[in-house]
Amino acid sequence: MNPRLEALETEALRAFRDVSDTASLEDARVRYLGRKSELTQVLRGLKDVPAADRSSHGASANALRAKLEEAYAQARTRIEGSREAAPAVLADVTLPGRGIPPGHEHLISQVLREVRDIFHGMGFSLAEGPEVESDYHNFDALNMPKGHPARAMTDTFYLRPDVLLRPHTSSVQIRVMESRRPPVRIVCPGRAYRNEAVDATHLFEFHQVEGLYVDEGVSMADLKGTLERFLKEFFGPETELRFSPSYFPFVEPGAQVEIRCLFCGGTGCSVCGPLSGGYLEVLGAGMVHPNVFRAVGYDPERWTGYAFGAGIERLVMLRHGVPDLRLLYENDVRFLHQF
Ligand code: FA5
Repeated sequence: MNPRLEALETEALRAFRDVSDTASLEDARVRYLGRKSELTQVLRGLKDVPAADRSSHGASANALRAKLEEAYAQARTRIEGSREAAPAVLADVTLPGRGIPPGHEHLISQVLREVRDIFHGMGFSLAEGPEVESDYHNFDALNMPKGHPARAMTDTFYLRPDVLLRPHTSSVQIRVMESRRPPVRIVCPGRAYRNEAVDATHLFEFHQVEGLYVDEGVSMADLKGTLERFLKEFFGPETELRFSPSYFPFVEPGAQVEIRCLFCGGTGCSVCGPLSGGYLEVLGAGMVHPNVFRAVGYDPERWTGYAFGAGIERLVMLRHGVPDLRLLYENDVRFLHQF
């Protein structure tokens, strides 16, 4: 090997051996193996070397290049290995810990739980039923045979001519009575669906809580007492209620229950509206219709019962002063944090 290449070999091997970080390794690579390095110049100049010497010069220059590439690779492995072994960031153990803000139960879930607990305290157990329901359980068995005008009272989403998304939780009454003998005392919180135009007080998907009590000698007075106790526990002991006649095909007599507006005290405001007389409707109720008992095989001469159904979002609205039901589903944490 010519003395120039020998000197270059010694110098380059020492450089690759001594580098200790990525930046100086890169400097050494550029200097000894880069496009402008002395070795590359030698290799490029081979064409000008007399033919007799060209092959021996070429062989030793190429051998040196292979040797330096090997030295470079070893240095890189050494530097990367030591970097992985070193701790990436030193922890400052004196810094205070970073808290993870916990989430909390959604307002609707809170109210569902509270309603369930109040009725549980009055001896009601929990029942459930399917959201995808048969036409029979939702209408026929609830005293609304095919062609009954009350079927149009709710805008129902049909999946098939005889299968629908339940527009109310009253279908659970039928499922429960089909599966057990009286006495029955259940509440059923769950989702309901109606093909409604969405606005501040109407959603197309919402929650209801259904209640049903069947036994011998159950009267309207029991219904009034139970609902009064529930509403006073939920809204506060000062709550004033009003029962007035209403129509639901599955109860007779039927009633609607209103409470005196909690926002204006009954003088009339934007929540209760100018025509309400200061009262707000909170639920529908009544004595179970004999035809409903017949549909589930209960003897209407022996058993009597009451049923009621309340909208959970409307209860939330009145209790917490939520002006628009859509806020409950927008998942804006600035709203949800308040409850
Ligand atoms: C019913 O759904 C009856 N099944 C209730 C019932 C049960 C009566 C048992 C008698 C015996 P209604 O359609 O009024 O009734 O709905 C009951 C409650 O659901 C309403 O008072 C309201 O609070 C709520 N609700 C009804 N439609 C909507 C809607 N689109 N968005 C939000 N809440 C609603």
